[in-house]
Amino acid sequence: MAADNLKRRFHVVIPCAGSGSRVSIGLPKQYALLNGVPMVVHTLRVFQSVKGLAQSVLVVAPEDLVMGDVLRQWPQSEFFVSHTGGATRAQSVLAGLNALIDKGVGLDEWVLVHDAARCLLTPELVEKLLLACFEDPVGGLLALPLPDTLKEESHGRVGKTLDRSGKWLAQTPQMFRLGLLRQALVSAGQSVTDEASAIEHAGFSPLLVPSAAFNFKVTYAEDLQMAQAILSDRSRSTHSPT
Ligand code: C5P
Repeated sequence: MAADNLKRRFHVVIPCAGSGSRVSIGLPKQYALLNGVPMVVHTLRVFQSVKGLAQSVLVVAPEDLVMGDVLRQWPQSEFFVSHTGGATRAQSVLAGLNALIDKGVGLDEWVLVHDAARCLLTPELVEKLLLACFEDPVGGLLALPLPDTLKEESHGRVGKTLDRSGKWLAQTPQMFRLGLLRQALVSAGQSVTDEASAIEHAGFSPLLVPSAAFNFKVTYAEDLQMAQAILSDRSRSTHSPT
């Protein structure tokens, strides 16, 4: 069934309450400028361009004074800001889900949780995830089969080489129903580093939806240069005469 034929609606939670200290720009990394536009705005524009987007939330730290200004300068009609970020990513996501419930979003609705720092996501990848998961009983996530050989460290040296077959790198968005995800996060506690882990903890098996290497999370300073180069290249190919 084509995605356009589905009567779909989905919400997005973007946890943005981390410090992003490994990028070292003096501000949380989602505010780094790429082509003159904050990273988070690149991310939001992707979702804004996908059919079916409904009321969605950006979760920032209680002391964050920047996001409000960013959205005034680059308005994103479906997103509101919630100053309820917690000490862990899981707490921030949970706060975002509660903010959606406060706005009247139902527990059966689909929610896509996405890292602000995966700003190279494309509408096509979101469409692929929606199409794969919309009628799935559990939901799923974008992920990439592990391309490299995997080593386990022991005191700065290789302890052993792990079998990489069947191993995937989890990306975002991760797509689950609001009620199931909220319950799973409450039960799993704060140590889970993605939503799929919480769902697994609750006894379910999320669907792996093959993604692309370009959907990496900007984590280190050099990732910013790579993201900048890819965005510039995309914008050149959009604007070049055909
Ligand atoms: O630190 P890391 O890059 O893994 O964080 C992934 C996402 O989770 C980032 O968008 C970050 O802002 C968010 N996060 C959060 N609350 C925290 C920690 C991380 O919203 N306490």
